[in-house]
Amino acid sequence: MDKEKGIPKYIHGYEAIEQERLKEQAKVIERPIYDFIDFSHVNELLEIGSGVGAQTEVLLRRFPHLSITGVEYESRQIKKAKENMDFLGHGSEKVRFIQQDATDLQLDGTFDGVFICWVLEHIPDPVRVLKSMKPFLKNNAVVSITEVFNSTFYIYPYLSEVMEYWHIYNNYQVAIGGDPQVGARLGSLLEESGYKNIDLRSGGFHLDKRTRAEKKKVFSYWKNLISSGASQLLESGLVTREQVIAMQAGMDRLMDMPDSVFYYRFIQATAFA
Ligand SMILES: C[S@@+](CC[C@H](N)C(=O)[O-])C[C@H]1O[C@@H](n2cnc3c(N)ncnc32)[C@H](O)[C@@H]1O
Repeated sequence: MDKEKGIPKYIHGYEAIEQERLKEQAKVIERPIYDFIDFSHVNELLEIGSGVGAQTEVLLRRFPHLSITGVEYESRQIKKAKENMDFLGHGSEKVRFIQQDATDLQLDGTFDGVFICWVLEHIPDPVRVLKSMKPFLKNNAVVSITEVFNSTFYIYPYLSEVMEYWHIYNNYQVAIGGDPQVGARLGSLLEESGYKNIDLRSGGFHLDKRTRAEKKKVFSYWKNLISSGASQLLESGLVTREQVIAMQAGMDRLMDMPDSVFYYRFIQATAFA
């Protein structure tokens, strides 16, 4: 726990490089995520864990009619999100960010849609988030959640320097109260929280020789993703600097190998209030 704020540790941290990574991530995974999201009938959208506004940007580009309220508990993320929205010319009538803990929401409006992406994995009791947002949702509001299912990650050829680091990274996330497999539980969590018509699908990447340019891009993105946990893993004594360097060199090799394979599935849920 972060003793000053009483909130759980956050594996990726809030450095400038991480804030840029979130923007890169939103672009690299945009198509697999958004091809299955339709907010054309939503006007007031609640975005939980809005970070630096990387997904907010995509949402407003794809659904320009939306008015978005982003909830985020870290002030550095909100500051960056506001800068990003100003840069894009989205004024306060289109988007606002509220600094709150999503497990204890106190909002002033009601919403006909909710978007959550890569957030519940960091929260010790995700049902608290799903229940906390419910009083602010209109009847039949649509809820769209995209979350990790990290045990699906597979690479060919097997590189122990990558897979052992990945194992340590995921165990650390569990140790700080998160759940790197939370995608698998989305159906149960939504049902327990009282949502109806729950629908699940899995999306992701299966990249090989046929898709070399995309494979290179995704390996590079993944290297940045798992490197973002390195400073906390080093601080906790769970990895050595040499292990981090070896993992990164392994990812670089995979990027350039014609025969390498990248496989990963995330889980998407749609449900209604
Ligand atoms: C991996 S980032 C994802 C951000 C954004 N959804 C995206 O895809 O770019 C997760 C964000 O959730 C925020 N977060 C984690 N737990 C939270 C909580 N309990 N309440 C509000 N925000 C939270 C973190 O501060 C972080 O900015």
